[in-house]
Amino acid sequence: MSDNDSREGMAMTPMSETAASEATTRGTATAGDPVGPPHVNPAHVNPAQVGFAHVSVMAEEVTAVLSVVPDGWVIDATLGGGGHAQALLNTNPGISILGLDQDQSALDAAGQRLASAGTRVQLCHTRFDQLGETVNRLNTRPVTGALFDLGVSSPQLDRGDRGFSFRHDGPLDMRMDQTSSTTAADLVNTLDERALSSLLTRHADERHARRIARAIVAARPISTTGQLAEIVRDAVPAAARRSGGHPARKTFQALRIEVNEELVILADALRLALDLLEPGGRCAVLSYHSGEDRIVKQVFRDASGDAPRPRADLPPPPGSEATVKLLWRGAVRPSEDEIAKNPRAEAARFRAVEKLQGAA
Ligand SMILES: C[S@@+](CC[C@H](N)C(=O)[O-])C[C@H]1O[C@@H](n2cnc3c(N)ncnc32)[C@H](O)[C@@H]1O
Repeated sequence: MSDNDSREGMAMTPMSETAASEATTRGTATAGDPVGPPHVNPAHVNPAQVGFAHVSVMAEEVTAVLSVVPDGWVIDATLGGGGHAQALLNTNPGISILGLDQDQSALDAAGQRLASAGTRVQLCHTRFDQLGETVNRLNTRPVTGALFDLGVSSPQLDRGDRGFSFRHDGPLDMRMDQTSSTTAADLVNTLDERALSSLLTRHADERHARRIARAIVAARPISTTGQLAEIVRDAVPAAARRSGGHPARKTFQALRIEVNEELVILADALRLALDLLEPGGRCAVLSYHSGEDRIVKQVFRDASGDAPRPRADLPPPPGSEATVKLLWRGAVRPSEDEIAKNPRAEAARFRAVEKLQGAA
């Protein structure tokens, strides 16, 4: 699911008392535990009953950050099964949710789960880089929050027919949006060895990228996840087969990122979300591998005016003034308790910012 190699930010530096108390709300949460008042317990809805068994990651921390935003619309840019969205609706009666997902099956599941919220929920099948256009079209203003829970959901990984996982045999697909054109099979069967190797290095820091790329090209055509997993396992040195999880883990991660253009669109989508936020509004991001987290960190740092200046002796160039404040420094990680209950939370890195008063 992720490379889990970002160790930065293990110790969080609070930016304010409020932020500190919110940010240190950790260590007690069981994802799926009630996070709202007792009469609106989100745990009463079993996602499995609506066909989408995904345990929301760092649900208590996400809710602590976003439940205090001013009244208005919170954009859940990665709605999935709607677990975080439901917790937010339950804890803050003043907000409504604009839920986006590029996977129609996620939207269908979330639609059922959130149905009782009525007009407080609007859903849209789209990629999150379209969020500005979507807010305008659906007139969901003021925007006072945004949540990005990046990457794939458990149902996407667990269903062999979606082709995301080396654990389940199926067509080599990996498209979150099943209406989009390029599949993982298209990439492994058409890219040349050099391009494949570069992709594995860029998106997953795969140490054996060249060997794997060579083996893939030699084994074409490849049509299933099982075939690819075996080709990669046979391509890596014997020692690499014995340690560090499944040898195909990083290859699958890299292909998934490329198929869904995950890193290409992230920075622009985050900037769009920050632009849309009203003063006091907040943007929160859960990322699951170092490539994602690096982008989030950079965008938040630039927007908070914390980016290194080319000339420290000169005033900051126009347009580089702070528009947000970091709610804490570094990335917050899930508690040991949460990881024990939901191993898929392990790689999560959580960052959040708040739009400054007076910022456009
Ligand atoms: C980790 S899951 C979200 C789970 C959700 N927060 C919950 O608690 O149920 C990520 C979801 O985001 C969607 N997604 C990922 N990248 C996206 C993008 N660029 N645009 C829209 N949806 C995206 C995936 O299809 C998946 O359903």
